[in-house]
Amino acid sequence: MQAVVILAAGQGARMRSKTPKVLHELAGVPMLLRVLNTARTIAPDRIYIVVASEQKQQIAQYLTGEDFELVGQAEINGTGYALQVALAAMPEDTDADVLVLYGDMPLLHARTLKALCRSGQQNDLTLLTARLDNPAGYGRLLYDDQDQVVAIVEDACLTEAQAGIKEVNLGACAAKKSNFAHWLSQIQTGCLSKEAYLTDIVHIARKAGCQITALQPEDQTEAIGVNDKADLARAEAEQQRRLSQALLAGGTTLASPEHLTIRGEVQLGQDCYVDVGAVLIGPLQIGDNVQIGAYSVLSESRVASNVSILPFSHISCCKIGSGARIGPYARLRDGTEVFEGAEVGNFVEAKASQIGAQSRAKHLTYLGDTQIGQDSNIGAGTVTCNYDGERKHRTRIGDGVFVGSNSTLIAPLHLDDQAYITAGATVSRDVGKDEMATTRARQRNLRGSLLRRTKKKP
Ligand code: UD1
Ligand code: CA
Repeated sequence: MQAVVILAAGQGARMRSKTPKVLHELAGVPMLLRVLNTARTIAPDRIYIVVASEQKQQIAQYLTGEDFELVGQAEINGTGYALQVALAAMPEDTDADVLVLYGDMPLLHARTLKALCRSGQQNDLTLLTARLDNPAGYGRLLYDDQDQVVAIVEDACLTEAQAGIKEVNLGACAAKKSNFAHWLSQIQTGCLSKEAYLTDIVHIARKAGCQITALQPEDQTEAIGVNDKADLARAEAEQQRRLSQALLAGGTTLASPEHLTIRGEVQLGQDCYVDVGAVLIGPLQIGDNVQIGAYSVLSESRVASNVSILPFSHISCCKIGSGARIGPYARLRDGTEVFEGAEVGNFVEAKASQIGAQSRAKHLTYLGDTQIGQDSNIGAGTVTCNYDGERKHRTRIGDGVFVGSNSTLIAPLHLDDQAYITAGATVSRDVGKDEMATTRARQRNLRGSLLRRTKKKP
């Protein structure tokens, strides 16, 4: 049996946050979920996640699946005790292979876990370590003169002579359950606090003549652990770099890979172009040959192929049909659907509205709860008045309708096919098929101008 234990019960005091540390997000995904998903890639028989007992319910909301168990650690008294709590939750009758991961080390690759598992099955104890130019904060590895690992010394407990050691403990380790249990039964509280350090098992195992192997990850960035917000920012930058690299490898053109932000599940088709500063928030599905303009924010939407999204547009929970043209400075909100070839231009806001194929609302318009058919034109400055102060009402606009600029459409309202609304109208009654509606006051042009008549002679 292969078991994975994820230690995630620490208080995370250094984050200075009310949110449990492992729920802080990297690229829109809680760190703990990232670690869990990486653990899943090695297909273990069972995953045990140790969380603070009082955070169990809160954390459970962020995780789905049947393949793991949340184990409550009642007192946060160190990684050593945390692992003991996990071992106690495992079936007694089998001696599992156990891989231990830390919930605050979210950048480990699947291949690193595979290597650890393999080594865990072949050696008494395998540790994941790295040589860092700046090892501050990490536990350090001590070797004897036969080049054998003898202990890990925590950062806070280092002597001056040990402070220069560059090889650090990354926390992940692998051994048999029975071995872990045996070593853990001998640990005592650490050098400074009441916590019992998991890392103490190293010298205990060594004393017992066990064989200890140190494995290094291929990628130095895997060593980034998150204890505070500065670490979180570093880890986020690395996660974004990985996501950008994956997009580039998939054929997306990125104007500036380091100035793009991705959160959650984002899929782009072939030949897409993403300009500088875009923020893409999943779930987001984007078709082929889509242009995403600078500083646009797209979230939880589906965008078909050949769509142009011009700079500074904001699209959230929408569906955009093929060949549509959005922005610049468009804001499309929840439930809005833009059909094939439609155009939504600058300073247009749409909420819960359908904009039919080839229809256009190109400037300075608000469309709320509005359904527009095909090939209709909504003039600049048109406002649908969907809210009467108490309730929302719908506006229905048919095919081939022309709405003149600066019109006010008071819902509930129906403008039937080919209706024509003159500029500046305030429309509160339905307009039938082919009818023209105007509410314009007659213009009066008076002879001479008041200005000229009152002008004083110098
Ligand atoms: C730990 C290691 C250190 C290593 C570093 C790598 C120990 C004693 N030290 O230090 O050698 O270099 O990680 O990042 O292990 N946790 C629990 N229960 C507890 C305490 C902690 O589940 O009672 C969890 C935390 O949520 C965290 C992980 O264990 O995910 C590590 O704890 P943390 O306090 O961050 O240890 P470090 O000081 O980083
Ligand atoms: Ca840590």
